[in-house]
Amino acid sequence: MSSENAGNEFTTFPTGDDTSDESDVRRAVAPHQRDFPYERGEEAQVTRREFCNFLALTSTALFVSAAGFAAKAALDSRATESFTPRRIEGAEALAPGSALNFRYPTEDDTAILVRTREGEYHAYGQKCTHLACPVYFERQRQRLECPCHEGGFDVRTGGVLYGPPPRPLDEIVLERRGAEVWAVGRKAGEHERSV
Ligand code: FES
Repeated sequence: MSSENAGNEFTTFPTGDDTSDESDVRRAVAPHQRDFPYERGEEAQVTRREFCNFLALTSTALFVSAAGFAAKAALDSRATESFTPRRIEGAEALAPGSALNFRYPTEDDTAILVRTREGEYHAYGQKCTHLACPVYFERQRQRLECPCHEGGFDVRTGGVLYGPPPRPLDEIVLERRGAEVWAVGRKAGEHERSV
């Protein structure tokens, strides 16, 4: 996850889902607390200036944190493209632990639908993100592999497991309509490598 620095030493904020405003604020004010130690017995000696500094830091922390979440949301929405929905023929009958190929969003775009052993569906563009060789489903190891330079991808996330690919596979966004599985969009695999 990225860090942001608003130009002073107090504001470095991870923006991952595992953080909260509370931890952001605590992290932001830690140097301030070190420079201005707080002792219960000295509570009465806290000056107006220290209190104002604290408020300014807290406001900055909240602002930067909110900006980080907004930027992440904007990035996510940019990365997903909607296309004309198309039913994936044969998806309903696909056995767990196997895969089939289909074309989406156009007839020139080959894609691969995987049904995990647990029954979940995941789909990806078939082009390897290294040099565009087609990936395939390796049934024994339950992962997507690229034969050109031994690249490997996680079937649940599309993330790179090993090899030279620089980024995850493009994800085909799926929608369940009853028993049917439809492709409805494509999401560029722009996030960082999973390993
Ligand atoms: S093209 Fe897939 S690893 Fe090189």
